[in-house]
Parts: sequence; C-alpha cells; structure tokens
Amino acid sequence: MITPFALALDPAAFLEMKATKEVVRRLSDMRHHFSDKRAVERILGQGDPVIYRFWEVEYTGPERGLSFGITTIYPGSIGREYYMTKGHFHASSGDEIYMTLHGQGCLILQSRDGQSQTLDMVPGGLCYLPSGWGHRTANTGKENFTFVSIWPPNIEHDYQSVSQYGFPQLVVATDHGPEAVENPEFIRPGRS
Ligand code: F6R
Ligand code: ZN
Repeated sequence: MITPFALALDPAAFLEMKATKEVVRRLSDMRHHFSDKRAVERILGQGDPVIYRFWEVEYTGPERGLSFGITTIYPGSIGREYYMTKGHFHASSGDEIYMTLHGQGCLILQSRDGQSQTLDMVPGGLCYLPSGWGHRTANTGKENFTFVSIWPPNIEHDYQSVSQYGFPQLVVATDHGPEAVENPEFIRPGRS
C-alpha cells in the first residue's frame, strides 16, 4: 500500500526515492535514431555524449495507480537534428500527460493510422498524449529541457516500431529556428 507523499520536481529528489529507476541514453545507444549517419559517426569518433537522462517511478501495485517520471534532454544537435528521445508507442492502451518545467522543446507525434504532428513544449504548459500516438521529444533550445510525465501502470513501452520505422517528421535547426520537416527515410509500417 502506497502512502501519500510530496516530491520536488527535480532529478535529485527523484533519485532519493528508492523506487526510482535512472536511465541514461548516450549517442551510441541511439545511433540509428538520428537521420544524419555521417554526423553520428563523426561525433562518436571523438566521444559518446549523453543525449538525455530520465528518472521514473513505475507503479507496480494491484490498484489503479499512476507511474511518473522526469526527463532532461541536454542541448545540442546531431547534424541539424536536435537532441531528442528515442520515442515509443504504448503497446497496451494508456494515455499520458507531459508537463514542461524548464527550457524549450517539441513533442513529435505519430498515430498508428498514419497521422503526424508536432506540439511546442514550454514551461508551465501541458501536453495530452492520447493512446495510440507514438511520442518523441526534442530539445529545441540552448538550455536543458526538462519535463514531467505521468502515465497509467502496466503499459508496455514499444520501442521496436520506432527503431524500425522512425517518425514521419524530423525537428531540425534552420536559419529561422526549429522546424519540423518530412523525414525522407520514414517507412510507413506495412509498406516496403
Ligand atoms: C513514459 C514516457 C516518458 C519517456 C522519457 C524517455 O511513457 O513517455 O517518461 O519514457 O521521456 O523517452 P524514451 O522512453 O522514448 O526513451
Ligand atoms: Zn510514453
């Protein structure tokens, strides 16, 4: 049985909780997620930067609890593509809420039936991610980008489809700032 608790919304406070799982993703963990493969190899030739970290507390009890986490994506880009998360679908149904705490980011979404869209993420703002929409976040600013996520328990995170097919849109740096462009390499599932 979980008892009520309060928690500061920063990674250090999360880390003090016993139930927290910390995940660190470096460029080598996601080399095929970035579109500019030459930039990936060139950067890996000099080191292996941490792209993002997240800390999550998964609800494992028998009731209808909630799981939650906090993610920090560092500033930077691989080629023109901003540092971003791998991205995933929720394999079983389950919606999610993201709330931005710090920095400037973009939420990249794709539905299983072929729609795609991007939403700006700004401090104090909330994004609602309906079930069935694969989601990835990118840091489009110059500072750390940090947001909180809350989702129902027992959701299997499906990374496989994203790893295999990618996202229909890439978020890249241009002379006019961040822009979402079509991903020329995106393969729609079910087509060759
Ligand atoms: C949970 C969720 C987030 C992400 C986190 C890292 O359902 O969407 O907490 O898990 O932002 O991104 P991924 O999981 O894509 O590496
Ligand atoms: Zn999710």
